Amino acid sequence: MINTLNGMHSSSFKAGMFLLETLTAGMYNDPLSIYREYIQNAVDSLDLHKDIQDSDALRVEIYLDPHEQSVTIRDGGVGIPGSIAESILSSIGSSNKTGTDARGFRGIGRLGGIAFSDKAIFRTKASCDNFESIQEWNCKKLRQLLSDSKKKSLSLNEVFQEVTKYERINSKKTGDSYFEVKLEGVSSFRNLILDIARVREYLSQVAPVPFNPQVFSYHKEIDSYLGNNLRRYGRYNIILNGDTVFKPYQDKVRLTKKGYDLIDKVECFDIKIDDNSIAYCWLGNRRELSGGITKGDHSSGIRVRIGNILLGDAHLLDRCFREARFNSYCIGEIHIECPDLIPNSRRDDFVDNETKTLFFNAVERRIGLPLSKEIRHRSRLVSSTEKYKDKQCGDRGCSSIISKNTEPINQCVVQDPKNDQLINILKIECKDCHKIRDILSRIST
Ligand SMILES: Nc1ncnc2c1ncn2[C@@H]1O[C@H](COP(=O)(O)OP(=O)(O)O)[C@@H](O)[C@H]1O
Ligand SMILES: [Mg+2]
Repeated sequence: MINTLNGMHSSSFKAGMFLLETLTAGMYNDPLSIYREYIQNAVDSLDLHKDIQDSDALRVEIYLDPHEQSVTIRDGGVGIPGSIAESILSSIGSSNKTGTDARGFRGIGRLGGIAFSDKAIFRTKASCDNFESIQEWNCKKLRQLLSDSKKKSLSLNEVFQEVTKYERINSKKTGDSYFEVKLEGVSSFRNLILDIARVREYLSQVAPVPFNPQVFSYHKEIDSYLGNNLRRYGRYNIILNGDTVFKPYQDKVRLTKKGYDLIDKVECFDIKIDDNSIAYCWLGNRRELSGGITKGDHSSGIRVRIGNILLGDAHLLDRCFREARFNSYCIGEIHIECPDLIPNSRRDDFVDNETKTLFFNAVERRIGLPLSKEIRHRSRLVSSTEKYKDKQCGDRGCSSIISKNTEPINQCVVQDPKNDQLINILKIECKDCHKIRDILSRIST
């Protein structure tokens, strides 16, 4: 039986200071995850800013200064009203977003930068206030306390009091609102947090940014499908050191072996569980589908997004394919709509529940298996024609290509008229052979 006599039960609870270490340094494998957390907060706040009509104003500015070892992330969202700023910024592991449409809900994301900097400063102002609220974390001191064996019995509360301070500063401007995170004395493994090129690559894949209309022709089609079907399909101007960040998709994909392939159309469709749409997707159709897409393209793999922010990485859905590597042959996105598919705290997978299993099964059936089949089929066609590539096209060679591929040719023509890869190869490789010409003319009529 639980002993609640004289409040014994509640007063015996103690949250030790190492909890803070778990929630900061222990939280993310990739230091760049801190950008995801700050952007998530910024866009949640921009979503609340009803006055923003102009899409250009939905902006988050990030400035990295490798020389000064500092990072600044600023949004013009609603900010936090001064009346509640101190209590909001002093709560850990509880969030006023829980149960809303917002992306965050665990109340720990803003602590991410603390593990990688000497000082973290949060400044915010709401439009109703004429002052700025500022909370400053002495992260260096926090690390000292955590490593000092004499201090190990300090409570979370005591440590918090020691390492943070809160103040208000009068502001001349009224009416404006913002939230700014500044990290000073930043250091991380391989200096990743201050590596502008790496941060850009990371944001282009993870952050809720738009497609680049200059290089990806299908942006309108996808935006209109997702915009019409998702409850919220947010795209924001995220500016890194002055340059806008876009998603990495292009009409042309570079392959791991030499060369390129083209995306010649996109397919948009939903994924269902028991007749209910739980996610909306787009898949790029690769013209040749011969070989995987190079990692350097940052577009390979069907990716999962919630609130247009990436969940996990390019490999989250590998297990839905016959061979894990086949996922890297594909490009596309699955945008989750179902509230039972919940990101875990590290946002590297879903929380384990039954819907997660049903989702993975549905993706396997609807995407993984048909694409795996198609990839195998195309690679068989390519290898069988390559066998004959170097040979002079004698009658024996041709007839053996035909006899091996008669069935696939007929299937291609009957089931998928656009699948003309083998026919094209035969037209080129065996252009001098009258038998092939004869057969091709019969197929095309
Ligand atoms: N950019 C921001 N604009 C306005 N409020 C913010 C911003 N970042 C953080 N906050 C406030 O701080 C709280 C804690 O943030 P965080 O630790 O990331 O937890 P969560 O996002 O899960 O609520 C948020 O719920 C929000 O009230
Ligand atoms: Mg958050």
